[in-house]
Amino acid sequence: MSEAKIIDGKAIASDLTDKLAERTKDFVAKSGAAPCLAVVLVGDDPASAVYVRNKGKTAEKVGFTSIQKTLPADTPEDELVSIIETLNTDPSVNGILVQLPLPGHIDEAKIIDLIAPEKDVDGFHPINVGRLGAGNFDRALIPCTPAGSIILAKSALGDNLSGQNAVIIGRSNIVGKPVAQLLLAENCTVTIAHSRTKDLEDVVRGADIVVAAVGRPEMVKGGWIKPGATIIDVGINRVDAPEKGEGKTKLVGDVDFSEASKIAGAITPVPGGVGPMTIALLMQNTLTAAERQWGQSQG
Ligand code: GUN
Repeated sequence: MSEAKIIDGKAIASDLTDKLAERTKDFVAKSGAAPCLAVVLVGDDPASAVYVRNKGKTAEKVGFTSIQKTLPADTPEDELVSIIETLNTDPSVNGILVQLPLPGHIDEAKIIDLIAPEKDVDGFHPINVGRLGAGNFDRALIPCTPAGSIILAKSALGDNLSGQNAVIIGRSNIVGKPVAQLLLAENCTVTIAHSRTKDLEDVVRGADIVVAAVGRPEMVKGGWIKPGATIIDVGINRVDAPEKGEGKTKLVGDVDFSEASKIAGAITPVPGGVGPMTIALLMQNTLTAAERQWGQSQG
């Protein structure tokens, strides 16, 4: 079996952000203001802090204004509520992202419900979830990691995914469920597998497209994969890497890359696969949100 094509998410994300930077220039020329993304981080989880910093940096690179609000882990829920209400009503803010997970004393669903749907660049608000489910893409904001995963699958398979058997491992609101809706909209036959699925290996063996989003390092083995399948690995797991020296760590996906890349037709690496696409799609959602809000303001 020949080696799989490695899907270069970093390069595809970089092409996309270049195009968004051009579209942003057009938007600024007609509206007179740069799109503005507000990112709210509660607490000091180091991985979340890195993501949030990268989001801010990329936003500025494509020509957006970026606001970052970092709040202590013990911030009362009321205070977060009032910050979001202020961002909702501020006409200069086009996109709002609250980094998840939130500390345990804050009701995550309540906070997501509060974000104005037209500024919900994560696509997590029930209105956007419903629009995605109903196929109302013109008005929805689509979750970033799922949207990025579809672009990567298409980069390997072409734009027509119709009739492909897609198996998603993981049923989260952030990835598993929305990626299932997107693949269904692409006319795939979709299976959502999860921790209680019987005979998971056999289910995965039937897949032309595998989306792995469980958060378990290298759980999906090469022997589970149908020869030639396309593998989209959403997992980002930090594990010990004693081979790099004492106390060192590395990032791995949910798929055993060294095994799977000998059997799959195409596979995303970790890092450098889905991760960069998530940030690029966040920029796309922010620009789309700004364009729609400006259009509305013009009557
Ligand atoms: N935490 C992990 N992934 C995400 C994401 O896509 N958006 C937000 N807001 N938080 C996350």
